[in-house]
Amino acid sequence: MSNETLTAVHDFARSKMRDDETGHGFDHIQRVVGLADRLLTAYPAADRLLTLTAAYLHDVIDEKLVTDTQAASAEVRDFLSAHDFSATQQDTIFLIMDNMSFHKTLDGTAKPLPLEGQIVQDADRLDAIGAIGIARALYFGGHFGEKIYDPAVAPRTQMTHAEYRNLGGETVINHFYEKLLTLKDLMNTAAAKGLAEHRQQVMLDFLTEFKDEWQAKR
Ligand code: ADP
Ligand code: NI
Repeated sequence: MSNETLTAVHDFARSKMRDDETGHGFDHIQRVVGLADRLLTAYPAADRLLTLTAAYLHDVIDEKLVTDTQAASAEVRDFLSAHDFSATQQDTIFLIMDNMSFHKTLDGTAKPLPLEGQIVQDADRLDAIGAIGIARALYFGGHFGEKIYDPAVAPRTQMTHAEYRNLGGETVINHFYEKLLTLKDLMNTAAAKGLAEHRQQVMLDFLTEFKDEWQAKR
């Protein structure tokens, strides 16, 4: 397996993700790959090709982005076979993609991730927080018709998967309390926890400023 393989994975992921308008476009994928590669330097035991391939493909079969997840999965399998990924390697990549999502964590149904998957999950979560996280949440909320904020609607504390995906009454600001601010403590690796600290403060400062401006205090 070579850099050529990784280039093919890059091109396949780009063809699938470039039209996304929910904040999961190919720019998100490239940031997740970049963050995963950065985390890899702290974990040399992880398999780089598997980690970066899972990072490139992680949203290609996601329930919120594709209607037919089975067809999308079959297409990914065919692609991986054509590029000589072994059955075991493919199983690892699918294990990662199938179990890294936040909603799996909510449901308690997620299977434990191998080190490669822990790195990809951390990279994906890092891209959901900080300045980029703020921008993506607002972009996602606008796309799905959420209000930016409504002080009368309290953030939910306990949610099932179905409630998490039900955006009726959801606001972007509440999404910070329901998910984004919790991600820092859910990081698997120490390296990601370190990066998350700064991003957490960026979000907290944003929320403080936002509410002050909302109430015309500033
Ligand atoms: P995962 O793939 O880990 O389950 P999601 O697909 O639910 O995560 O969310 C990915 C990103 O989409 C979030 O980090 C956030 O930026 C955005 N997002 C998801 N749900 C909402 C929401 N209700 N309001 C605003 N942004 C959201
Ligand atoms: Ni993602």
